[in-house]
Amino acid sequence: MTAGKPSLQFHHRMMDQSDCSVLLSANRNHKNKQAMLSVRTAQEEDVFDQQLAVIDQEEFQHADMDASISPLLHCLVSPANIAGFFAFLLVFYLLQHYHWLQKHKNVPPGPKPWPVVGNFGSFLLPSFIIRRFFKNSRELSSPLSPQAGLMEMAKLYGDIFSIFVGPQLMVVLNGYDAVRDAMLNHVEVFSDRPEIPLVTIITKRKGIVFAPYGPLWRTNRRFCHSTLRSFGFGRMSLEPCINEGLSIIKTELQSLIKTAEPSGIDLTPLISNAVSNVISSMSLGQRFHHQDQEFCSMRDLMSHGLEISVSTSILLVNIFPWLYYLPFGAFKDLRRAETDITAFLKKIISRHRDTLDPENPRDFIDMYLVEMLAKKKEGNSEECLFSEDDLFYIIGDLFIAGTDTTTNTLLWSILYMSLYPDVQEKVQQEIERVVGSDRVPSLTDKGRLLYTEATILEVLRMTVVVPLSIPHMASETTDPTVWDNPDDFNPSRFLDEQGKLLRKDCFIPFGLGRRVCMGEQLAKMELFLMFTGLMQAFTFRFPEGKTAPSMYGRFGLTLAPCPFTVCVKTR
Ligand code: HEM
Repeated sequence: MTAGKPSLQFHHRMMDQSDCSVLLSANRNHKNKQAMLSVRTAQEEDVFDQQLAVIDQEEFQHADMDASISPLLHCLVSPANIAGFFAFLLVFYLLQHYHWLQKHKNVPPGPKPWPVVGNFGSFLLPSFIIRRFFKNSRELSSPLSPQAGLMEMAKLYGDIFSIFVGPQLMVVLNGYDAVRDAMLNHVEVFSDRPEIPLVTIITKRKGIVFAPYGPLWRTNRRFCHSTLRSFGFGRMSLEPCINEGLSIIKTELQSLIKTAEPSGIDLTPLISNAVSNVISSMSLGQRFHHQDQEFCSMRDLMSHGLEISVSTSILLVNIFPWLYYLPFGAFKDLRRAETDITAFLKKIISRHRDTLDPENPRDFIDMYLVEMLAKKKEGNSEECLFSEDDLFYIIGDLFIAGTDTTTNTLLWSILYMSLYPDVQEKVQQEIERVVGSDRVPSLTDKGRLLYTEATILEVLRMTVVVPLSIPHMASETTDPTVWDNPDDFNPSRFLDEQGKLLRKDCFIPFGLGRRVCMGEQLAKMELFLMFTGLMQAFTFRFPEGKTAPSMYGRFGLTLAPCPFTVCVKTR
């Protein structure tokens, strides 16, 4: 099969497929899904009826043979009946599978799915077998690099192809043209989020990030955006709040340097704390100390939760949802993370409710509670869209979407700087020239720190912190037809001959269309201020004699760098 030019015509055909529920963001046809379920139930009942008929017959024949053995048990262990029963099941299953294949014959090309598990069959196999037999397979044999796996498949099947997660169809769009066409020209179809069992269990499809495209998502997103903006979200007035976090990182680093081992310092807790405190001060109305036990453990639970939610065993929940409730292993860990985060956020919400002064809202939670009360009073039709439960999911989304993404991008940028000292030096020279060393860089310097800007963009390109977007797409940041030597780390690719910043339309780290990242402005501010501030104050070097971590990173919903430490020197 050849990689053809992307075409979205198939979607109209696909929209008619009853179980084409997981794809870029196509709408689910719930009615048909239910119809499919009831057919299956009726057929299962047939099997059961047949079994009963056989049992009745056997029971009659053997009634006087052995009174102590139940006739039911006796007939069940009869080899002929067992063979017959399994033969029947096999035929039944093959018919079902044939019916299923017929249904999906018009979908875009893709690897052949396995029965029941779809293209995730290899997850069921022990890792040594996967390594032995699936090394070169185009199937998604490794959850660690799904993006790489999807890119490989695109080479074989084209920019639009299908894979199956269990029995559910997922269509992958690869490459800017296909993604742009879908996101901008077919907005109504592709702005939805697919229904993924694991996500549904955890988020109930509330909040913003995973909410289906509809009134709840629209109300939540609009309310969040305008309310957060009134607290400075994406505006210059937020600069002091971001700089406060930066200043804490700098102070802490200064003191850590004094006692640091030659093996270096892990910057994760400091950066993650500074970033999540920006969201926290706007939404919860408080900053947390970086050693606050409860806050630290919530942050850790969030990033651990995101990471294990794409582990092999947890992905199986999408095929067998009941697995989520198993009392051991990753299932138990994920449920614990969910329970603890819920308890932490709900406690904060109820504290706000108890101390609410509607005349003086302190933060996002207060604004939401005030709006909720107003809607209730008015008997407004939107009343049902505002509830404490929804508020909880919105706050969770803001934390999860706003913390791990920016934290990981900053960590990646420090890692790249320590591995590319020449780039680091150029960034520092530019900061020295434009800002000097007496004041911290400001957003007003952005237009003159172009190499620094280009470096941040190059880090975003190399790492694709939200690699699969939030089920939508695998955008191509390593396509050699778009980027020269795409695997090289080279910030200058974002600059023209005059040193001006080049905007590349195909570069979409924050997504595209209606579901574009809501925090894009905030993230860009945080990245710029924190990165320049750190580069101005310190030089980062990779510890001598240590092997650099794999640059493929650790895949969660976001792509984190593998754990690393750096040697830090004050400038
Ligand atoms: C480097 C940092 C960040 C990157 C690379 C990033 C990237 C993304 C991407 C790719 C999406 C999915 C877009 C789509 O589905 O088409 C997204 C969605 C989202 N992001 Fe970000 N993001 C970042 C930081 C933030 C921050 C700081 C916030 C703060 C609130 C945030 C809030 C959100 C929300 C709420 C959504 C869901 C939007 C929706 O479904 O309507 N993000 N982000």
